[in-house]
Amino acid sequence: MEPSEPLRVVSLEKWFGKIHALRGVSFEVRVGEVFGLIGPNGAGKTTTLRIVATLLSPSRGDAYVYGHSVAREPEAVKRLISYLPEEAGVYKNITGADFLEFTAEIYASTRSEAEEMVELGARLSGLGARLYEPTSTYSKGMRRRLLLARTLMVRPRLAILDEPTTGLDVYHAVEVRKAIKHYVSETGAAVLLSSHNMLEVEYLCSRVAFIHEGVIVDSGTPDEIKAKYGASNLEEAFIQAVKSGGAVG
Ligand SMILES: Nc1ncnc2c1ncn2[C@@H]1O[C@H](COP(=O)(O)OP(=O)(O)OP(=O)(O)O)[C@@H](O)[C@H]1O
Ligand SMILES: [Mg+2]
Repeated sequence: MEPSEPLRVVSLEKWFGKIHALRGVSFEVRVGEVFGLIGPNGAGKTTTLRIVATLLSPSRGDAYVYGHSVAREPEAVKRLISYLPEEAGVYKNITGADFLEFTAEIYASTRSEAEEMVELGARLSGLGARLYEPTSTYSKGMRRRLLLARTLMVRPRLAILDEPTTGLDVYHAVEVRKAIKHYVSETGAAVLLSSHNMLEVEYLCSRVAFIHEGVIVDSGTPDEIKAKYGASNLEEAFIQAVKSGGAVG
């Protein structure tokens, strides 16, 4: 597998007992790309992201992060990625600033590197003075922004973001999307994200894949996909893609 390619997912399958959650998922994420995995509840987005993040092992198939197999070389993969889970909590009794500091101490190898990380995290969070208050005083959206800041500030070569803007108001969702775009253009890293929000995906993603019942029913640039189905937006295109039978079973 290409060591310069951020991610290649190859025929991933996942069974949870009798549930066939992923039925042969394949796609790739290129350098400098924000790639969006979109689909309805239960489609298999989180399962795919958790496998790429090495938190879940595939039943079949594999994924390669810069050429490293998630199944065989999880330690190498862990050094290249950072993962924002769908539902994540923050420690309640510390301040946001402490939370970022704590993370930086784990990831950075020198003091100055840690300081840079915290500075970037503080900026990405957009929390300003509230960063110095206990996270127990934060709103849901503020906690989400802190977690996103933490995920990106360690400068992963591949950021894996499960519904990054869930729970954010329009204003802060826009800020977070800008932060993600800016991160990619500044670092040349790549992002794999999941979302239900097709508007968000159109703004953020250079390419997308539609996932439905554990199968990728189509993928391409938002413009390509809309043109293919004669749709004026991605929502319409998604409905068409599912109808035209990309999904099996
Ligand atoms: N730990 C688990 N045990 C059993 N079944 C699971 C487990 N995790 C996921 N599943 C099943 O796998 C399928 C895919 O779930 P997944 O969480 O990947 O969907 P999703 O696309 O992220 O949905 P959502 O939009 O609701 O977050 C679902 O049928 C779900 O019930
Ligand atoms: Mg999910």
